[in-house]
Amino acid sequence: SKKQMLKGKRILISAGPTQEKIDPVRYFTNHSSGKMGYAIAEVAAQLGAQVTLVSGPVSLETPPNVNRIDVTTAAEMYQVINSHFEDSEIIIKAAAVADYRPKQTVDQKMKKKDGELSITLERTNDILQSLGDHKTNQYLVGFAAETHDVLEFGTEKLKKKNLDAIVINDLTKPGAGFGVDTNEVTLLTRTEKKFTFPVASKKQIAQQILNEVAIDLGEQGK
Ligand code: PMT
Repeated sequence: SKKQMLKGKRILISAGPTQEKIDPVRYFTNHSSGKMGYAIAEVAAQLGAQVTLVSGPVSLETPPNVNRIDVTTAAEMYQVINSHFEDSEIIIKAAAVADYRPKQTVDQKMKKKDGELSITLERTNDILQSLGDHKTNQYLVGFAAETHDVLEFGTEKLKKKNLDAIVINDLTKPGAGFGVDTNEVTLLTRTEKKFTFPVASKKQIAQQILNEVAIDLGEQGK
């Protein structure tokens, strides 16, 4: 049955934000709470998958039967994800990874001075792009958090990053995206299937995402 389809599958999930250090007391981050990624991990484990959850700093409990690895920065997340990639059958990247980090970090607290302060940022590695470029047989699912032209940007990311599916959040919709307990998403697949899941708990959204992923995977004979 459909419920059995993810049983025993090795699933790698990322969740939460990253923190990019400026000095010992300051960092850049974003509003991700980790709830969406943790809900996917929880449901996947309930369906009998072997789940590894790579988590940025969040204040959530580890779901039962999930192997959780904590990271702080985009660079750490890149390293941990890469080391588990080859061994995974499905990868779902719900984390909100920083695109930039301070070019220089200092080990002593920066002191206030008069006038403006500029901090130069440099790009982090795009983890998802690198997975897409190197994937062999893995089924790769990305997320996109957008505020405008959401379907266009989502479709572009699906193609550019060589994904099998993408879950698109429209951050302007109430009850969707960062922090809240609910979400509303559009799922697009490489095979041009399109599903819109109306507002529901992140757990219900996770169930719907995993259901379609399992079906799509089955159709590919994986
Ligand atoms: O955590 P919650 O509070 O529950 O909120 C959920 C969420 C809105 C954070 C989540 O559902 C979501 O949309 N996550 C992706 C947010 C994001 O960073 O989107 P993006 O469009 O910037 O990135 C696209 C994809 O590339 C994502 O899969 C991201 O993990 C990946 N990426 C981005 C940058 C980078 N350096 N490496 C990456 O792998």
